[in-house]
Amino acid sequence: MSTTPQWFMIGGEGPESYNQHSSYQRALLEAAKEKMNEAISAKLSIDLISNRFSVADFGCASGPNTFTAVQNIIDAVQDKYRKETGQNPVENIEFQVLFNDFTTNDFNTLFQALPAERREGTIALSFHIGVINYAFHFTSTIPKGITDRDSPLWNRDMHCTGFNEAVKKAYLDQYSVDTKNLLDARAEELVPGGLMLLFGSGLRDGVKMSETPKGMVMDFIGASLNDLAQQGVIEQDKVDTFSTPLYIAEEGEIRQIIKENGKFTMEAFEDIIHPYGEFPLDPKILAVSTRASFGAFITAHFGADAMRNAFELVEVKAREEFSGIQNAKPGMQYLIVLRKN
Ligand SMILES: C[S@@+](CC[C@H](N)C(=O)[O-])C[C@H]1O[C@@H](n2cnc3c(N)ncnc32)[C@H](O)[C@@H]1O
Repeated sequence: MSTTPQWFMIGGEGPESYNQHSSYQRALLEAAKEKMNEAISAKLSIDLISNRFSVADFGCASGPNTFTAVQNIIDAVQDKYRKETGQNPVENIEFQVLFNDFTTNDFNTLFQALPAERREGTIALSFHIGVINYAFHFTSTIPKGITDRDSPLWNRDMHCTGFNEAVKKAYLDQYSVDTKNLLDARAEELVPGGLMLLFGSGLRDGVKMSETPKGMVMDFIGASLNDLAQQGVIEQDKVDTFSTPLYIAEEGEIRQIIKENGKFTMEAFEDIIHPYGEFPLDPKILAVSTRASFGAFITAHFGADAMRNAFELVEVKAREEFSGIQNAKPGMQYLIVLRKN
């Protein structure tokens, strides 16, 4: 996966880090665990489970969620093996785990959290199961015209709110190209019959991003950056031309992209009830967890001080608009199971 501009998480294990503020993303893995176990049990051929089994996590960040994602998969594969062969998987199968993210990702924190005896191994050229948790919504670039004030596609907002059709089309076109490339690349690396497990956020068909809690929070970030520009803390011009390489797709759009790509059979598209609902409904937690995900990208554009000021304002706005967030249209958290053709 290669994306510019790079969107990476706040590293380390400090109070602002993704490592400390990613329980929302981890909770989906747990909420979808049973469905994932069923899919592995039913859709992964037992012939693929032999002496070495490789699992790859794409967009693993600095932990600890990647360990949950991978351990849940290993448990499900071992369980299937035990039930179908009557043999002990611990004695017969060596699991190999591949961690993938940007080179700017904080892999040090990730590897330090691994027990020493688990840090070595050879590099697999292919894998049996790939997982992506909350990293299936990026575009490789900001679509052309979006940040250009002279273009009819200029987007005043810092994300694709869904209200401007031309902007939405530009984002969807870019997302479609990038996601097909991603699927092509994964299809080359996966063994035939191997699975891709996609966990993440989508939209129900016809729902606009800014009608959902997550979209509202992105609007708060944009409004907070605007406030800072009004106060002269950052340049208005920079805010006007700031956009994010994110596209939260509708279910129908995701289905269409996967079908057009043609390298995988969609075995399941599960609408998962997230235990936190659509977002942690506490303005402080909401601001802190969003900062862990958006903070590094915003710092790269506006500097760390402005980023911190902006998220203080986000918390204020979330408090003021609390009932709006509670009454927003729900987004969708999914588990998509793809089997390589
Ligand atoms: C919201 S985080 C999710 C992290 C982790 N999977 C989890 O469950 O918490 C998104 C991750 O995707 C990574 N990412 C985004 N685009 C990527 C790309 N093109 N190639 C590799 N990693 C990417 C980011 O660096 C980030 O670590």
